[in-house]
Amino acid sequence: TDATVTDQLQRPLRDLRVSLTDRCNFRCGYCMPKALFGANHAFMPRRELLTFEEIQRLARLFTPLGVRKLRLTGGEPLIRRDLDRLIGMLAEVEGIEDISLTTNASLLTIDKARALRAAGLKRVTISLDGIDDATFRAMNDVGFPVARVLEGIENAERAGLSPIKVNMVVQRGVNDHDIVPMAAHFRGTPHIVRFIEFMDVGNSNGWQLDQVLPSREVMARIDAHWPLEPVSPNYRGEVVARYRYRDGAGEVGLISSVSQPFCGTCSRARLSAEGKLFTCLFAGAGHDLRDRLRAGESDEAIREALINIWSRRGDRYSELRTHETRPVDTRRIEMSYIGG
Ligand code: GTP
Ligand code: 5AD
Ligand code: SF4
Ligand code: SF4
Repeated sequence: TDATVTDQLQRPLRDLRVSLTDRCNFRCGYCMPKALFGANHAFMPRRELLTFEEIQRLARLFTPLGVRKLRLTGGEPLIRRDLDRLIGMLAEVEGIEDISLTTNASLLTIDKARALRAAGLKRVTISLDGIDDATFRAMNDVGFPVARVLEGIENAERAGLSPIKVNMVVQRGVNDHDIVPMAAHFRGTPHIVRFIEFMDVGNSNGWQLDQVLPSREVMARIDAHWPLEPVSPNYRGEVVARYRYRDGAGEVGLISSVSQPFCGTCSRARLSAEGKLFTCLFAGAGHDLRDRLRAGESDEAIREALINIWSRRGDRYSELRTHETRPVDTRRIEMSYIGG
């Protein structure tokens, strides 16, 4: 039966992003600043987390509604034990065409990378906010060296996880001096660096518009060294604007969530580690699916609830915020809670 669903703005549901834990071993200032995520921070107790079986069941309930892509995020998803078992369970779900993982790569050993690949993971996206060691250590705020992330990238490559995308969140005055060196490092490799505009997610990262370096400026800085030309999108609604080096040395991407919001084609739903469904990265509240699972609701009842939630959705936060210089004043979920 075809139960595909569209929301109030005629947007389908294609992409489910699943956070597996709210924990991370990094303390990036824009995501889990130490002041707020210190020794006393209360993370979710394990019993609160969706089990792998619950996640698989939800994936099976989402595919008939249109979901084709799964992205596993966190916090840091590799903190979740036996992640390869979950990948295997999700790879079995009929209708899922793409499974990917967003990770900081700190725990991506060669054995782990191979186990994930064997279980059915095809590719990974690795967060790396600088190629200059001092800059990167300061940004992750736990002194984690660039070299070890590069090892993780190499392990992913050797395990056949490709294409590898490398995400760099650009904060003016913090790491923008590292844009050109970052591009230089990955030029001539098959890896795709994507420069992301710093967003006002959550309540704790102290976002100010003047810390956002617009993508067009990122593009101009790289283009001045190695001329770029646009590449057409891989699919409708792709978040990244793709560019390639005119000399054939590869591809970079620009993600302009602030200067050019992409709400118009947003087909993403997000599931928190404790099973709340959010219809926008900037939503204030989620819909508790875990309750329904643990109350023994039938597949039919849960599917109906999902259809209801999506068909009422009207979120387009980034478009509404476009003309503001400060975040709109509402309480929001944190990125470490809902994932990149
Ligand atoms: P693939 O095309 O599947 O490889 O992934 P993607 O291009 O969607 O990229 P990814 O999932 O790595 O997301 C990259 C970054 O884009 C995220 O970390 C966010 O900063 C931003 N982003 C992704 N989705 C959204 C969204 O729905 N809203 C906003 N505002 N930003 C988003
Ligand atoms: N702005 C933009 N991207 C962010 N991420 C986390 N916080 C932000 C933010 N404030 C994304 C980055 C990172 C992933 C884990 O989440 O892409 O790599
Ligand atoms: Fe961890 Fe990623 Fe958040 Fe940094 S951005 S604290 S690596 S979840
Ligand atoms: Fe989608 Fe909300 Fe991001 Fe807009 S702000 S692209 S609606 S998640």
